[in-house]
Amino acid sequence: MPSMLPEPFRCKMIEHIRLPSPEEREKALQAAHYNMFGLPAKEVFIDLLTDSGTGSMSKEQWAALLLGDESYAGADSFLRLKEAVAEVLGFPFVIPTHQGRAAENVLFGSLTKAGDCIPINMPFDTTRAHIMNMGAKAVPCVTDIAYDAALEAPFKGNVDIAKLEAALKDCGERVPFVMVTITNNSGGGQPVSLENLRQVAAVAKKHKKMLFFDAARMAENACLIKEREKACADMSMAQILRAMMDLADGISVSAKKDPMVNIGGFLALRSEEMYMRLLPRVVLFEGFVTYGGLAGRDLDALAVGLREMTDEQYMVHRLDQVRRLGGMLIDAGAPIVRPAGGHAIFIDAAAFFPHIPQTRFPADVLSIEIYREGAIRGVGLGALAFEEIDPSTGRKCLPKLELYRLAIPRRAYTNSHMDYIAQTVADVYKRRDTVQYGLEIVYEPPVPGITHFLAKLKPVGL
Ligand code: F0G
Repeated sequence: MPSMLPEPFRCKMIEHIRLPSPEEREKALQAAHYNMFGLPAKEVFIDLLTDSGTGSMSKEQWAALLLGDESYAGADSFLRLKEAVAEVLGFPFVIPTHQGRAAENVLFGSLTKAGDCIPINMPFDTTRAHIMNMGAKAVPCVTDIAYDAALEAPFKGNVDIAKLEAALKDCGERVPFVMVTITNNSGGGQPVSLENLRQVAAVAKKHKKMLFFDAARMAENACLIKEREKACADMSMAQILRAMMDLADGISVSAKKDPMVNIGGFLALRSEEMYMRLLPRVVLFEGFVTYGGLAGRDLDALAVGLREMTDEQYMVHRLDQVRRLGGMLIDAGAPIVRPAGGHAIFIDAAAFFPHIPQTRFPADVLSIEIYREGAIRGVGLGALAFEEIDPSTGRKCLPKLELYRLAIPRRAYTNSHMDYIAQTVADVYKRRDTVQYGLEIVYEPPVPGITHFLAKLKPVGL
């Protein structure tokens, strides 16, 4: 029997993509102020900016769109979503939202206040921005090995229990709840083990704190647990997912990732009391509580996507595809975060360009160079995205990781696209010493935590 599995799907409809010429790329870069978020998608050949909302829906999802019930309140589509959430994840209460950050707005806006602390392995950019915008603070509790990009370890997304205990002791009443991001996007898409989640749940319970998961990539996490955690090897991926969920009081989800829709998010909750506490903010910001900023048809596509994400054949292929790309980059000598993440390959930009100081944004220089080389769009997740203001000095401080991410959209690109990506990165790596510039910010938005989305940049000599 062949040892590898090709894509367990075939193309029924295609979307044309086009390779822009080097001159077109240069013009596009200038017009975008050297920020990948400013590029028109048509100037991009392979778009790895994000795996969020960029996946391909199945024919079953497209068919489900036609079943959408657009009633303002109590639509059938909502009931179908509620049923899927209960079946796949085991939560009795669900609040749809227009995407993940809207779920964050409802959650943090309802449960946190200025001065609060949220112990979390690592927050993603919008999660951190929402916490900051409430005047609260994320307290990163991820295991130290998360910061060692080259180290091979199975669960680099794990929470360090001693750090969590210390955060709970130091912040006491100022902790409204504990949170775990699964998988840990900011730390390289690394998974959290079931054993670690159980420990976190026990600590949270001991301190009488609720536990929430940021569960955008919960199915990838479940599959990586199945592969790497011996005690779970005989469980199905769906059983592992359910065992993870059983530990949480609630989850905040961007449905644009594992649940495979182009737009959507939700909160799923264990208790009615918590559900009722969150509802007012849904009405204020999202819409009525049974549609939360989405069309009824979106809820139906999501209900189908939630079931599809637990298909093990699909998920094994997805993880293999990302790992295959990672393997080719390792062979080319490029310094990637190891092991490969669930949804993306992260390159250690500080190691790729050791001659560019972090204050000159090497991850974003790498974005530019990979776009120049092959019209591939990735994203810098380093100092530009995660700079922090030290409240005592008012000065900006630099994050520990300076990463560049190639996020792989779900069911969208084939393995030969992966070959092209690897070749492109390898070519930039070969000429890395000739890249003799850094970047300066010429415009940044006045809201903390979202600089990278809106910044205008300028190349400057080293
Ligand atoms: N939480 C995590 C872990 C995320 O990765 C994201 C989004 C969100 C929350 C917010 O969800 O985009 O639906 O509002 N991450 C995307 C990314 C954008 O590129 O990784 P959203």
